Amino acid sequence: MDSSVSVIYIESNRMSKRKKTVIDILRDSPGFVSGEAMSAQLGISRNAVHKHVKSLRGRGYRILGVSRRGYKLEEEPCRLSMGFITDRTEKSAFGRSFRYYDEIESTNAEAKALANCGAPEGTVVIAEAQSAGRGRLGRRWTSPAGKGLLFSVLLRPRLPMNDAHMLTIVAAAAAAEAIEAIAGIPVHIKWPNDLFIGDRKAGGILMEVSGEQDEVEWVVVGIGINVNTEYSELPVALRRTATSLKMVKGEPVDRSELLATLLLSLETHYKDAVANGFERALASFRNRDYLLHKSISVETREGPISGSASGVDDRGALLVELPHRQVRRFHSGDVTLHP
Ligand code: BTN
Repeated sequence: MDSSVSVIYIESNRMSKRKKTVIDILRDSPGFVSGEAMSAQLGISRNAVHKHVKSLRGRGYRILGVSRRGYKLEEEPCRLSMGFITDRTEKSAFGRSFRYYDEIESTNAEAKALANCGAPEGTVVIAEAQSAGRGRLGRRWTSPAGKGLLFSVLLRPRLPMNDAHMLTIVAAAAAAEAIEAIAGIPVHIKWPNDLFIGDRKAGGILMEVSGEQDEVEWVVVGIGINVNTEYSELPVALRRTATSLKMVKGEPVDRSELLATLLLSLETHYKDAVANGFERALASFRNRDYLLHKSISVETREGPISGSASGVDDRGALLVELPHRQVRRFHSGDVTLHP
């Protein structure tokens, strides 16, 4: 690894010593360990052992529990290979400073805090799990530990504030291209920020900005992708509408390779956009426009407005053809498809 690259690994301080001991006991036993033996070894009740096991499962540890036999550690959560990622990104500006958390509230919140403390452009915050992952329009983003990609990149572009939203288009194009290159699956983008495979959402982008009218101070681009998530790990409410790369491909996808490729793709698109404008990112977006020619409704303050999606304009606004052929532009809003 290049000596100018910094990777800070941050272990969750919410992982108590006792949980670590629970893992150590399970790791040291090839077979089952009874709840009773664990409670004696740890000096806690069997109920408390059960609670620790439950919380470890939430962190991606696969622990089998069989009555009268006890617990068995079947699988530990996967971790990204930071060595591989930094080797692949060593010549790029986005590969200089990484903060890699095993658990954090939200990588976007952390990247924003770093931005306000003067962290440089290209700082990348990655987490294996988020306890309060954020989505667009105040929604939550949930992902089982070690199965997805959850990361945020800090940018300091020299752009006027009214161009900042175009970086969502840039990030969506970069993410779609990287997924296609690594997983070999065609990706569509549902305006403005959803990554779709077939008719299901596999990822999303949350961009947050700070600055004055004339110039952006910083932008945080947060990307969440369901990579190796199983159907049973999706929140019940999303099982009809969400998917993962593994669910579509039928085999796991290398998350480290995907992250490295995505960072390189994001940097290429970003530099091109800041230097030459948004044409290239828009072209990539338009090639993957999920909504094009579909019958949709856009939620607005005046209520839902329905029509046929007819692409995005050069400012990244959604174009909708209304029943009398009049075309309306939307700069923001939630889109639903008509059945
Ligand atoms: C959406 O589809 O509404 C956007 C989802 C964005 C989720 C990512 S996960 C990494 C980053 N940190 C967050 O808290 N959110 C974004």
